[in-house]
Amino acid sequence: MRDEGLCRSVGVSNYSIAQIDELIAATGERPAVNQIPWSPAQYDPALLAAHADRGVHVEGYSPLQDTRLRDRVLAEIAAKYHVTPAQVVLRWNLQLGITVIPKSARPERIESNLDLFGFTLSPEDMARISRL
Ligand SMILES: NC(=O)c1ccc[n+]([C@@H]2O[C@H](COP(=O)([O-])OP(=O)(O)OC[C@H]3O[C@@H](n4cnc5c(N)ncnc54)[C@H](OP(=O)(O)O)[C@@H]3O)[C@@H](O)[C@H]2O)c1
Repeated sequence: MRDEGLCRSVGVSNYSIAQIDELIAATGERPAVNQIPWSPAQYDPALLAAHADRGVHVEGYSPLQDTRLRDRVLAEIAAKYHVTPAQVVLRWNLQLGITVIPKSARPERIESNLDLFGFTLSPEDMARISRL
């Protein structure tokens, strides 16, 4: 499909690093992206590095579903930046270089989930979130 101009890039989802390597070995092509479950509780720097080493972009799904948004640390950080805990989690993803795809059925949440560019988490706060 890509070679025929029907799509720009091809990605995979829920691939392990071993499966990505198998795909590259079998086809000589690397997927542009791997869409995987990703949230502070699933933080794994080795997994991010393994994707980066292979030039595969990480797209994180279920960022909010898999996070306890009432966590005390998230609440503290959210209050400090005058944003919501959900915005803190989404911004943490962006600052890690991860594309994040939150889903909401509520217009006001869709709007706030996109409103992530008016604050920057400090390195210390990034680390606190990663430790969750
Ligand atoms: N590749 C895969 O295997 C795979 C697997 C699962 C999901 N996905 C994709 O990942 C995307 C998101 O996944 P997901 O729906 O599982 O997880 P999610 O976006 O992390 O969580 C969605 C839940 O969070 C709530 N929510 C959204 N914004 C919120 C906010 N600002 N504050 C508090 N709660 C909020 C939503 O409720 P309301 O709707 O009531 O706001 C909904 O219950 C979807 O596009 C889905 O297709 C991919």
